[in-house]
Amino acid sequence: MFIRKAPDLTCADVTPKSVYLDRREFLRAMGIVGATAAAGKGLFELAWPSKTAFAATKLTGLAKSPFSTSEKQNTYEDVTHYNNFYEFGTDKSDPAKNSKNFNTSSWTVSVEGEVNKPHKFSMEEILKIAPLEERIYRHRCVEAWSIVVPWIGFSFSNLVKLVEPTPKAQFVAFQSYFDARQMPQAKYAGIDFPYVEGLRMDEAMNPLALLGVGMYGETLPNQDGAPVRMVLPWKYGFKSVKSLVKIKFQEKMPPTTWNRLASNEYGFYANVNPTVDHPRWSQAKERRLGEVFKRTTLMFNGYGDQVAGMYSGMDLKKNY
Ligand code: MTE
Repeated sequence: MFIRKAPDLTCADVTPKSVYLDRREFLRAMGIVGATAAAGKGLFELAWPSKTAFAATKLTGLAKSPFSTSEKQNTYEDVTHYNNFYEFGTDKSDPAKNSKNFNTSSWTVSVEGEVNKPHKFSMEEILKIAPLEERIYRHRCVEAWSIVVPWIGFSFSNLVKLVEPTPKAQFVAFQSYFDARQMPQAKYAGIDFPYVEGLRMDEAMNPLALLGVGMYGETLPNQDGAPVRMVLPWKYGFKSVKSLVKIKFQEKMPPTTWNRLASNEYGFYANVNPTVDHPRWSQAKERRLGEVFKRTTLMFNGYGDQVAGMYSGMDLKKNY
């Protein structure tokens, strides 16, 4: 995304319900029977396939989200062929080509650190946490392009509640999967892997913060962060870590990939802010993929009503 060659740095199978844990049983196992998540309607009958090829597994019975935009969605082709996923190469077309055989079977996400109930979640468990919703979000990259994507997932806070963070949990650190054998292009990317990101606790608990498991009615394609990723629509895209394997609650602000590489260019907060230019280009406008004319970029990417309160009293020119 932002890197050119150094030194110029730039950033369904449907199976019987009996084969997997019932959502209620799972929640009981986690000790939260009766919690809001348990009120879900058992919306889908999907068992996570054990083999690699489950891109394009349908996710049905999706609830509609009040957070969805009515703006025109980008095409599936756009959203799957113009990607930043440096583990699979730095050109926008590389992830689609190079992630085809990425093995996401037997995937787990370890949730640990300052929590009373650390847990290694399988994808089956994750898919049962809350009824899945379709959320159509604007997504603004720091490189001044944007897209509108019908994601599928649920508020990250629903997962957080299950593990019961302790009062020491002030921040959440996210880590992507990394395997140099499956991701041979990563060595040319110029950034350190695994890709890491972080949020302050209140940001992580904001209902807009989505744990994404699909898009366009299907499971996530590999190039878009299969099988599970974050989606944070009020922040520049680089905060939305793909192919998540570890979530750690901690007292200290965690390091983040792009900030570690160029702290003058990529801050920890990375809220979309058209009044703060990137040192090498303006953030005032953006190009929506598929459109010719640029549009004006909105503060917090247009999600100010939901998120601005979290930053009151902070200087967002300094805390970029
Ligand atoms: N996550 C990982 N693991 N590796 C990456 O290179 N790129 C980030 C983010 N998450 C990235 C990542 C950037 S720069 C952006 S803009 C978004 O993913 C792009 O998401 P998309 O390709 O689904 O649009």
